[in-house]
Amino acid sequence: MSNITDFIKGNSERYLNELKGFLKYPSISTNPENKQDVLECAEYLKSHMESIGMKNARVYPTKGHPVVYSEWLEAGEDKPTVLIYGHYDVQPVDPIELWTSPPFEAEVRGDNLYARGSADDKGQVFIHLKAIEAHLSQNKKLPVNIKLLIEGEEEIGSMNLGTFIKENTELLKCDVIVVSDTAMFSKEQPALGYALRGLCYMQIDLTGPNRDLHSGQYGGSVKNPINALAEMISKMTDDNGHILIDGFYDDVAPLSKEEKENFEKLPFSDYEYAKGLEVDELAGEKGYSTLERIWSRPTLDCNGIWGGFTGEGAKTVLPSKASAKISMRLVPNQDPDKIAELFIKFVKKITPKGIKADVYGQHHGKPWISPIDSKWNKAAIKALKAGFGKEPVFMREGGSIPIVFTLEEYLKAPTVLLGFGLPDENAHSPDEHLNMNNFYNGILTSADFYEELAKA
Ligand code: BES
Ligand code: MN
Ligand code: MN
Repeated sequence: MSNITDFIKGNSERYLNELKGFLKYPSISTNPENKQDVLECAEYLKSHMESIGMKNARVYPTKGHPVVYSEWLEAGEDKPTVLIYGHYDVQPVDPIELWTSPPFEAEVRGDNLYARGSADDKGQVFIHLKAIEAHLSQNKKLPVNIKLLIEGEEEIGSMNLGTFIKENTELLKCDVIVVSDTAMFSKEQPALGYALRGLCYMQIDLTGPNRDLHSGQYGGSVKNPINALAEMISKMTDDNGHILIDGFYDDVAPLSKEEKENFEKLPFSDYEYAKGLEVDELAGEKGYSTLERIWSRPTLDCNGIWGGFTGEGAKTVLPSKASAKISMRLVPNQDPDKIAELFIKFVKKITPKGIKADVYGQHHGKPWISPIDSKWNKAAIKALKAGFGKEPVFMREGGSIPIVFTLEEYLKAPTVLLGFGLPDENAHSPDEHLNMNNFYNGILTSADFYEELAKA
């Protein structure tokens, strides 16, 4: 391993410059106007995979954005095959004016590299590419067989990847799936992830009168859809942060005593957390700690709400329509389809007279949890210790990667969550960044991980 470690340490400057090249593509999957950029990013990724020695690199078209695949299968049949999953698409950059430097011109400030996609997820994908490169350039081989599956639609719900996986189970056949698209516990603390929350994302469109009305001529005589929407959203939770949708908690698995104790042992400060967010008080479901609330309890959040007049000044109008996007993070063993049905039923129940409600789903993802003591996870723990010089902790994740469930289901292989981001690196937000120490230690960890997997 030492020649590889030396190689990685000696190439940090080049890694940074190459990563900047990957980050310059505005591969925003949700924007139709960036379709070509997404494709160019996929082509770049394919040729970069070829340049580090990966074989059979291909850009597979889908109904949406392409999937990039490559493999190196010469470790021998007695060695495990590892499928590494990540995504090269990114979230939109708005509000652009809040970025300190342009989102697609990566810039180092302090310990961090600032760019859209730096943490989520191009930087983490690049960690694996450089770890693979180190092995192939120094040893002319990899300790395990590796398949890379890097998709372009994660941020829009992996709409077409499920079909791709179903149709290519032979191509993607593997013993273990590795996902680097999550976070460490904190800057000093590497972690092994073992759970992801699920997601049920809904939209409500309310219609009141058939057209916008003069709020003086008509005000008081018909139900205002924005008022109705606000009343309805406030009926979804009570003062204790409990969700009031009938049957919502029916399938929620309670936290075991051991897990609860593990959460309590982690070095987490409510005070520091609140301070970092500039809120004077944290809020959430009564009776649960912050980590429990984020990791092991379901939530309901309004993500966006609109209707009526939102321009400058005042326009007296009683609007015809109002809408909201509402997401629910789910935990084992909630089922997103069942939750969507319960949500629709509940919305219909609380829709006031004089209002029509159209309620429908956007995208869903199942929650995921795995046993922490698998041999693959043990290999990851050893590698994290080698790469970061510190014993990792076990953590759940509040975020969602719905495709993990699908990958496991169709490939019949377990997943290891090996995250190198940090919770406060502004994923999905202005000034997204990646801590470069974690980037370099991530490469060391991944390079070591492949060796540990070969022994597992
Ligand atoms: N990488 C994130 C998910 C994530 C982040 C998991 C941090 C754990 C910790 C992923 O790119 C993401 O943003 N997922 C979406 C879901 C998707 C369906 C849009 C999410 O969690 O909102
Ligand atoms: Mn991601
Ligand atoms: Mn994301």
